[in-house]
Amino acid sequence: MMKPLRKAVLPVAGLGTRFLPATKAMAKEMLPVVDKPLIEYAIEEARAAGIEQFCMITGRGKTALVEHFDIAFELEATLRERGKTEALARLKATSLSPGSIVSVRQQEPLGLGHAIWCARAFIGDDPFAILLPDDLILSETPCLQQLAEAYRETGGNIVAVSEVPHQHTNRYGILDIGADDGRLVEVRGLVEKPDPAVAPSNLSVIGRYVLLPQVVEHLARMERGAGGEVQLTDAMARMIGVTPFHGLRFEGRRFDCGDKAGFLEAQIAFALKRPDLAPAVREFLRNYVEVPA
Ligand code: UTP
Repeated sequence: MMKPLRKAVLPVAGLGTRFLPATKAMAKEMLPVVDKPLIEYAIEEARAAGIEQFCMITGRGKTALVEHFDIAFELEATLRERGKTEALARLKATSLSPGSIVSVRQQEPLGLGHAIWCARAFIGDDPFAILLPDDLILSETPCLQQLAEAYRETGGNIVAVSEVPHQHTNRYGILDIGADDGRLVEVRGLVEKPDPAVAPSNLSVIGRYVLLPQVVEHLARMERGAGGEVQLTDAMARMIGVTPFHGLRFEGRRFDCGDKAGFLEAQIAFALKRPDLAPAVREFLRNYVEVPA
C-alpha cells in the first residue's frame, strides 16, 4: 500500500557563502524575489502539492525563517486599524495551521544528507518531500505537485531533473539513466558532482525530491562523499534497484537562487509575470537591452 505524501522537509541550515555579506546575519532563504522570501515560495509550492506537515532544518541565526510563518498579531491589528486590507491579506497568506510546522537544528552544516538525517524523528515511517528553497521554479503546475503526481504513478523515489551544460556536471548530482519516455526516466545510477569527462549524462537532480523513509537508514552511516560532506545523493544511490527510482523532467523553469546570476534572473522572470509590475519592468529593461514587448 502506497502511503500518501503529507510531509515536507526544508533544509535551510547551509552557510550561504556565495551570498556573503548579505547572508552574514540573515538566512539566504529570507532573500526576497520581488516581494516574497524564497522560503515562502517553497512553502506555498508544498501546500499546493497537498503537504500538511513541514519541518525546517535550521541552524544558528536562522530563527527568522520559522518566525516568518507566525501570526504577527500587532502588525495585523495596526494594518486592520489603518484599513490596509491588501497588505493584511498578503500577511495572512503566511500563516500556517497551528502545529503544522516544526524545526530541528543542524548544529553544524555537515552536508545536505546530514541535514535530512536531522529530520529523522519527523520523517518516521512516511514518504516525504524535500524542497531546497534556493531552487525556485516558475511553472504552470507547481513542481512538487508534478512530482507528487508522478509518485502516485510509480511509487518509490522521484527526483526532479533538468538538463545542464555538459561542462557543468561537476556542480550537480548527475543521473545515469535507463528507460526514458521523455517525461519519466528510470534512474540506474547517481553520482555527485562528476567530472564532465566521466559524467554518465547531463541530467541533473534539482532541489525537489519525493523519497521513501528508508533513505534515513542509509544516511545514518554518515559516510562522507564529495567535498567531505554527507551527501544525500550517495544515500539515494543505495536505494537504486531496491525500490522504484525515477527522475521527472518537470514542466517549468528553474532558477538557481543560491547563485547571484540565477537570483537576478529570477527577479526579472518573476516580476515579468506580475501584472502590477510587468509594464514598468519591461519599460526600464529597454534602457539596458532590447526586450520584445
Ligand atoms: P548549498 O549547496 O546551496 O549550500 O546547499 P549553502 O551553504 O546553502 O550555500 P553556499 O554554497 O555556501 O553559497 C543546498 C541546500 O542544502 C542546505 C542549504 O541550506 C540549501 O538549502 N544545507 C546544506 C543544509 O541545510 N545543511 C548543510 O549542511 C548543507
